Amino acid sequence: MKLTVNKNQITGKANPMIYGHFLEHFHRQVYGGVYDPTSKFADEDGFRADVIEALKRIKTPVIRWPGGCYVSDYKWKFGVGKERIPSYDKAWMVEESNEFGTDEFIKLCKKISCEPYICTNAGTGSAEEMSDWVEYCNLKNMGRFAKQRIANGNREPFGVKYWSIGNENYGGWEIGAKESGEWGRLVAESAKMMLRADPTIELSAASINDLDWNIDLLRKAGAFLNWISIHSYFEGSADGLKNNSYETLMLRTGKDISNNIDRARAILTALGYGDKIKIAYDEWNLRGWYHPNTHGVYSIDQKHEIANDRDGSYRKMILEPRDKNDVNETYSIADAVFSAAFLNTCLKNCDIIGMACFSPIVNTRGAIFTYKDGLVLRPQYFVFELYANLLKDTVLDMWQAETPVMTGKDGNTTKTVDTVDIVVTYKDGEYAIGAVNKDPENSQTIDISLLEDSVNTMRIHTVRGKTADSYNDIGKTEVGIESSDIMTFNGRIELSPHSVNVIELK
Ligand code: AHR
Repeated sequence: MKLTVNKNQITGKANPMIYGHFLEHFHRQVYGGVYDPTSKFADEDGFRADVIEALKRIKTPVIRWPGGCYVSDYKWKFGVGKERIPSYDKAWMVEESNEFGTDEFIKLCKKISCEPYICTNAGTGSAEEMSDWVEYCNLKNMGRFAKQRIANGNREPFGVKYWSIGNENYGGWEIGAKESGEWGRLVAESAKMMLRADPTIELSAASINDLDWNIDLLRKAGAFLNWISIHSYFEGSADGLKNNSYETLMLRTGKDISNNIDRARAILTALGYGDKIKIAYDEWNLRGWYHPNTHGVYSIDQKHEIANDRDGSYRKMILEPRDKNDVNETYSIADAVFSAAFLNTCLKNCDIIGMACFSPIVNTRGAIFTYKDGLVLRPQYFVFELYANLLKDTVLDMWQAETPVMTGKDGNTTKTVDTVDIVVTYKDGEYAIGAVNKDPENSQTIDISLLEDSVNTMRIHTVRGKTADSYNDIGKTEVGIESSDIMTFNGRIELSPHSVNVIELK
């Protein structure tokens, strides 16, 4: 295929916040994930130093916390102060120790040098509770909550800039779900109080590509918002553990991703917020999280006989299935290729996608898996390592010609996607091209012409494994980054099968 690039045809500035991550109080993400005082890797504050190092290695810019569904019943005040009384977490039907709360989250972000992004409880929570949380974090010393923070050992405000009102409150699975007609009012009243506590914060609100939901939200609260939050998972669901073939998953790397962004952009534009509000894609992953028997509505005819002994059907129906998210063999090159295609789409829509959070980053479906003696870095981790460290901050327009395509059936739907997915970034005379070859068998050749410019050398960094199904596990490393020597650039690059690449041209 042919690629033509003109450094003067600028799409926009890439926002490094698209390499963000999500951390929820679910399964082993917090306890046993980032926070494990009993671990041999624990630092003086009980955080896993190896996890923190891995998060710094991929230049984590922002972490969204504490949920996710968890937040829609979360009482933040239970998670601060000397005495941490355990809560019963109705979102996930487990006990929450409250040992990890706001102060610990802020400490984690400081260790990683990333921005904290707090999602508030708009399920059972109120505008008052949300704005009290802003007071606790951001007021210097006015009022009881700032004084509580000081008494808890943090004299200086945390300066949390990013806040989201609610999480998926449009969904029946969410505690405190809302109708579209009531959501805008709640967001407006919450935003009003939060901004009175700290007018410098940036606010998002739970959104979905639905006209009624967004007309109500934006007409009543659009003036308060910097962002709207959208979420997507592209395989499997809470109750359905899927593991489609590599070829099927590749068919979800085209319109399945871009349609979500196009629709959100169209709704914002139609309602007059196209250049005022950006999209925070603050939960995304190829793999949906698996947690059966939890989101269901326990109507009379569906009631599960969950024994109170916590070792009977409760363990079998609620706890043990969640361990299936931790099977490392699940996460193959498909996860790397999909993740790169998703990030490419965000970069090519950098005028409206300002943030994205991989969901989640540690354990469950994350890029980092923790176990007693170390970490497993799953294939998608290396995409973040290459993209966050090597891609440049200006996204260039480009022209592709003779692009090969892949066509196939995804269920009953015939889909066609580009075999090669490219994004071109640029800074100070140097190019960094994110290039994905989805073909499971064949290499792809790209002839590149740089209009009004020339470069001398190229270097290609590749994430790949022996096969499209390669994966990493404890004691098994099949996937990593291979970097070529610096070579003379002759205008042609070759992408190996099922690979994610960053090509540096200087
Ligand atoms: O499956 C995990 C859940 O996915 C998150 O808690 C929620 O935000 C989304 O529905």
